[in-house]
Amino acid sequence: MKDKPIGIFDSGVGGLTVLKEIYKLLPNENLIYLGDTARVPYGIRSPETVIKYSLECAEFLYKKGIKLLVLACNTSSSISLDTLRKNFDIPIIGVIEPGARKALEVTKNNKIGVIGTEATIQSKSYHLTIKSLNPDIFVISKACPLFVPIVEEGILEGAIADLIIERYLKEIKKIGIDTLILGCTHYPLLKKAIKKYMKDINLVDSAEAVAQDVKRLLIEKKFLNNQKSENTKIFYVTDAPDRFKKIGEIFLNFEIDTIYKISLEAEETTK
Ligand code: DGL
Repeated sequence: MKDKPIGIFDSGVGGLTVLKEIYKLLPNENLIYLGDTARVPYGIRSPETVIKYSLECAEFLYKKGIKLLVLACNTSSSISLDTLRKNFDIPIIGVIEPGARKALEVTKNNKIGVIGTEATIQSKSYHLTIKSLNPDIFVISKACPLFVPIVEEGILEGAIADLIIERYLKEIKKIGIDTLILGCTHYPLLKKAIKKYMKDINLVDSAEAVAQDVKRLLIEKKFLNNQKSENTKIFYVTDAPDRFKKIGEIFLNFEIDTIYKISLEAEETTK
C-alpha cells in the first residue's frame, strides 16, 4: 500500500497548487495528477454536471490503484465530496474542511471572508462548514469569476489585477474581516496582489492545510511512503497537454516531464 500513488484531481491546471504543497511536505510520495482540461471550468456548471465529471475523474484515478484521492478542486469538493465517498472505498480528502479549520485557527475577531467560484459560493460549502465548527463566526462570501481567467493569462499583479481585486473585494474589506479564505485553486497565485489590497488580513490557502491533512491521514493509516528513492509525478489531462505544461510550470516552478492526454470515455491513452 505504501508505495501506491496518491491521486490528485482538479478541473484543470489550478489543482497544481495543491500538488505542489503535497510534494513539498511529502517528497517521497508517488503522485498522479488528473486535470480535466477538456471540461474546465467547473465553477460555472450545475451541481449535476460537476458530480458527473467528478465521478468520471475519480474512477480514472481509482483504476490506477491510488491509495488516497485528493479533490484539489474547490468546486468539486463543495459539491461532489459526499457522492464520491459513497462510491469509492479509498480515503478521499476535499479542500473545504481543511481550509475552514485553518481559518478558524487564525481568526481573532471571528469575521471570516470566503472567495471562490460561483458554484463554490452558491453551494455555501465553506459557510456551512465554518458554522458547523463554530456557530458564532460571522462569514461573508463572494464569487470572483474573473480571477481564474486572469491567473491563467499570467496576470498575477499590476493594474488589471488590482482593478479586478478591488471590484470583488471592496464590500468584504468594508466589513472588517481579519481572515480571508482563498477558496479556489487559482487564488493562491494572486496572494501578493490580494495582500496589497487587503493589507493586514490573514490569507488562508487551503492547499497548505490539505497537504497537512494528507500527511496526517497517511500516518494514521500507516500508508506513508518511507522509501528514499526518487518519487514519480505523472500528469494526465483530457485536452491540450502543451497548454497545461506551459501554465502548469508557472504554478509549480518545476518541469512537468511525464504528461499524457487521455479520454475519460474510452480511457485511451496517447503520449
Ligand atoms: N478548480 C476550480 C476550483 O477550485 C477553479 C477552476 C474551475 O472553475 O474549474 O474551484
